[in-house]
Amino acid sequence: MVYQNILSETENGITTITINRPSKLNALNRETIQELHDAFEEAENSSKTKVIIITGSGEKAFVAGADISEFADFSVEEGGKLAAKGQQLLFDFVANFSKPVIAAVNGFALGGGLELAMAAHFRIASENAKMGLPEVSLGVIPGYGGTQRLPQLVGKGRAMELIMTAGMIDASQALQYGLVNHVTTPEELMEFTEKLAGKIMKNSSVAIASAIRAINANYEDGVNGFDVEIEEFGNCFGTEDFKEGTQAFLQKRKADFPGK
Ligand code: COA
Repeated sequence: MVYQNILSETENGITTITINRPSKLNALNRETIQELHDAFEEAENSSKTKVIIITGSGEKAFVAGADISEFADFSVEEGGKLAAKGQQLLFDFVANFSKPVIAAVNGFALGGGLELAMAAHFRIASENAKMGLPEVSLGVIPGYGGTQRLPQLVGKGRAMELIMTAGMIDASQALQYGLVNHVTTPEELMEFTEKLAGKIMKNSSVAIASAIRAINANYEDGVNGFDVEIEEFGNCFGTEDFKEGTQAFLQKRKADFPGK
């Protein structure tokens, strides 16, 4: 598929989706959100994709937020719809994606940009990354899941402070907060992230999809995560990957998972 605002390429099992509006610091306008949805959907359906890495083009930004110029004159109703549609099309879609999604945060990740990185399953940042949810400085609040996912990742007090001050934290503070898992130099970011993706790809993709559902169940209202874990655990026993994984171990060889 041809996109206007993003690039998507697949190599060695990794689909790299790059938000590509560097002149606007990769701000997420409606078209970009739709294109990201389409690219993720394409990756979901492609047997060539095992892991997705999402990043931003240019040296300055991952994503500097939702495109402010698009919603500056919105009404209450339009504002609500903007958040609802974005969450459904992209942010929840990514968070519940069945294949691992890693955000390679290569610069500013602000507002919707940090929300997108937080929707990914985990994050790696380069040393020049700056992260924050500055929405209250615009008279609005995070609307793409930020008020929920930031406290889940860093704790309530830190999330309250970061959102109330509209401040930015650097990569080392984000590492200390547990918002990102690793920090690299800008030059090493993609290689490091791809290496991690390579480690993931050696494992059973079916079991990984199960693990994502079980972990995410902890954050769903009215769902008992332990019950989901029990069900997902049981289901693994019916997969070809489980048979291959256990046989390979017993036969002292490396598993070659069929992904079924
Ligand atoms: N929406 C729309 N356009 C944006 C944007 C956003 N969230 N973030 C940056 N841009 C645009 C700027 O308007 C500018 O466009 P122009 O050259 O046509 O005027 C271009 O990207 C470059 O940004 P600029 O502000 O000149 O870069 P900078 O290095 O001086 O500052 C930031 C970088 C990230 C500090 C600054 O761009 C910023 O504060 N952006 C908004 C962040 C934000 O509030 N995000 C939350 C939105 S809900």
